[in-house]
Amino acid sequence: MISRASSSECFVYITLPGQVSPVTAGRYELTKNARSDALGRFVYGRSYLENPDAVEIDPVELKLSTRTYETAQLRGVFGGLRDAGPDYWGRRVIEKHAGQTQLGELDYLLESPDDRAGALGFGLNNAPPAPQRKFNKTIDLEKLQTLAAALVEDEIPNDPEAQQVQDLLLLGTSMGGARPKTVVQDSEGLWLAKFNRADDRWNNTRVEHAMLRLARECGLTTAESRIETVAGKDVLLVKRFDREKTAKGYTRARMVSGLTILRADEAPEARQNWSYVILVEELRRIVEDAKRDARELFRRVCFNALISNLDDHPRNHAIIAKEKNWRLSPAYDLTPSVPVSVERRDLALDCGDQGRYANAKNILSQHARFLLDKGEGEKIINDMKAQVEATWYETLRASGVSEKDGDTIRGAFVYPGFSL
Ligand SMILES: Nc1ncnc2c1ncn2[C@@H]1O[C@H](COP(=O)(O)OP(=O)(O)OP(=O)(O)O)[C@@H](O)[C@H]1O
Ligand SMILES: [Mg+2]
Repeated sequence: MISRASSSECFVYITLPGQVSPVTAGRYELTKNARSDALGRFVYGRSYLENPDAVEIDPVELKLSTRTYETAQLRGVFGGLRDAGPDYWGRRVIEKHAGQTQLGELDYLLESPDDRAGALGFGLNNAPPAPQRKFNKTIDLEKLQTLAAALVEDEIPNDPEAQQVQDLLLLGTSMGGARPKTVVQDSEGLWLAKFNRADDRWNNTRVEHAMLRLARECGLTTAESRIETVAGKDVLLVKRFDREKTAKGYTRARMVSGLTILRADEAPEARQNWSYVILVEELRRIVEDAKRDARELFRRVCFNALISNLDDHPRNHAIIAKEKNWRLSPAYDLTPSVPVSVERRDLALDCGDQGRYANAKNILSQHARFLLDKGEGEKIINDMKAQVEATWYETLRASGVSEKDGDTIRGAFVYPGFSL
């Protein structure tokens, strides 16, 4: 069979700091040669570069410049653009809506609605569309929850005309992650709503809510959250830290994932770059306050190890910029797990001389990279361990986690291998 080279392109829009409507930042083109190798090109628009308020899309690959950026990595999608696209969950929603599963990378960017994380948007017109002003309300959660459950169960047809499929668009498809979710608004602002799944082993939403609280008790900066119960089911609402409600509309913060900072992706061969030690080195060069954010990241590594959050992959870390400068985002998606081993558990990223081992000595081994001396590192670890030990159960229960669920996940907290 003869394959043809193909190309497609779109405009990239950005909502500048303090603004509520987007401007056109540049143009992105994705081409495939006859061997189907993808090549992505991005160029900032001339008028954008002349705009004194212009900001970079991402500080890693796409700094403000007149050059044409090219990438053959990540199927030709720059990390900073990929971060604005949907992930496993959103892709499923879009595939249902399109009635097919073999969509191109650009389709996912173009088909997803305007509720995506960060400040970017995508479209085929030179001029950006008006910002979306209407979002689902928290009172729609019951319907959204039912739809999400049907999608999980695969009870929704691949039929673009079907009413259910139309309704699916109501779901917050552009946000990343694998769990069922949507975006809703209330008088305070925008929230990421995360649903339980019928096959969950415990009440995930309440447990995640409790973990955000426990993290704050341990001195971490986290996203704000609350629980809404609709039709007898709990929904976790996580306040979006990349949106701020103002009288004129929503302002947006730029957002770039840890995956992009590490120049990595989710493919197994790219995982050799998955490292907190590399992440903190990169972070120190990018953020406004290196000391503050390096220490905060150290605390997060320590916290993840103490609650066996082994799903701490690089997309569960991000940097944001509300104005010109970048900083580590608040912590989110903190979920405990209970693997069988009580001696050795591994984080998703390397965290010390002994690789991914979720262990105090291992985490401490690279303290200097986190701009901590050994004594400071030890103190953080010991204090946090004592705090988690003393309050994990109480915090779970105070967040409405049942006694039964508390017992099921008991083994996640301060597992014996942490102190070996
Ligand atoms: N409070 C927030 N404000 C803005 N963006 C957020 C917030 N929480 C999460 N996000 C973004 O949404 C994405 C999905 O959220 P989250 O990680 O909580 O979902 P998930 O489905 O549990 O993910 P995973 O696939 O890691 O299990 C994140 O990767 C991040 O980009
Ligand atoms: Mg996640």
